[in-house]
Amino acid sequence: MTRAFRAPGRVNLIGEHTDYNLGFVLPIALDLSCVAIATPAADGRLRIYTEVLDKSADWLVTELPHRSPTHDWTDYVIGVARELIRAGYAVDPQSIRIHSTVPTGSGLSSSAALEVSTALAMLGGQAIEPLQLAQLCQRAEREFVGVPSGIMDQYVAVFGQEGSAIEIDCRSLTHEVVTLPQEVEIFAVNSMVKHQLGQSAYRERTEQCAAAVEAIQARYPAVSSLRDVDTRMFSEVASSLPDTIRRRARHVVTENERVGKFVAGCQAGDLNKLGELFLESHRSLQFDYEVSCEELDFLVDSAIAIDGVYGARMTGGGFGGCTVNLVAPSASAMFEREIANKFHTWYSVRPQMYRCHPSAGASDIPT
Ligand code: GLA
Repeated sequence: MTRAFRAPGRVNLIGEHTDYNLGFVLPIALDLSCVAIATPAADGRLRIYTEVLDKSADWLVTELPHRSPTHDWTDYVIGVARELIRAGYAVDPQSIRIHSTVPTGSGLSSSAALEVSTALAMLGGQAIEPLQLAQLCQRAEREFVGVPSGIMDQYVAVFGQEGSAIEIDCRSLTHEVVTLPQEVEIFAVNSMVKHQLGQSAYRERTEQCAAAVEAIQARYPAVSSLRDVDTRMFSEVASSLPDTIRRRARHVVTENERVGKFVAGCQAGDLNKLGELFLESHRSLQFDYEVSCEELDFLVDSAIAIDGVYGARMTGGGFGGCTVNLVAPSASAMFEREIANKFHTWYSVRPQMYRCHPSAGASDIPT
């Protein structure tokens, strides 16, 4: 029997580079998604075909636990298969066809969408706790693909809510549904670049955060991650930290607090406040965390100069990919036109734009 499963991409509204510091994030799942269609096979093999790349690969299911990474798209699939097998699930011989509308390298989490949809396809209806599914896919990414990422992308791909954002507590691994104000549109704008630096810089940031924790423990021994540090504690230790470490930690500490303020701003329907927090977050990522890039800064600076734009910031890991923008519905046509024109005039590239509608997390789809 053929079965199909869908897992969404995401755009993170606020709480950037806080997940691996066990803090808070506020993503929405997108209607851009990855669909994996699985058909049982009789030849003992797992076969994967990806429409986007028009590439296929196959392995004997018995060799899956023994494979090593090959540093291409298949690592996501094998990484997930290995984690499923390790956790005691059966991965049966089958052909999986993958169709994704999440643009790759865009910071909209095409990899988590691929991991979660193929995990569900390989499970083929075997019951799994949703949190275990998210954690297993995160482990595949950390241990097989080799990116020390946090839990946000896989978590929201599983738990995303139609019509709402979710505020994830990355320590307790629980979430609250957050209703967004009605009178605002969310746009993701793709800078169409992904700078090489991304992966090594991500790892370096995780190491710098660990170094900050170690230094802060001299004054506050109970601190085990930057999640435990608030702005008051930070101001007491700041002068004892080396400059780069201080700026990295300041980003994480203030960004965590911005998530709480953003949620309060949603409850109050205060769009100007939400916009301010977006811009503060971007500047903090630009100057303190240093994960933005020229194209993202250009998109943010262009956006906030347009009437009816409340705020803009880079979203995701950085070094390219997308910005996320809060725009008054009456200004959206003008926003799309102006941003496209300005970016094209400067970079000779047309940025892709996505009007983001918060969607549900992963599920099977009727075939
Ligand atoms: C990438 C990672 C996430 C998160 C973001 C930054 O998308 O996969 O876990 O760390 O960067 O917020």
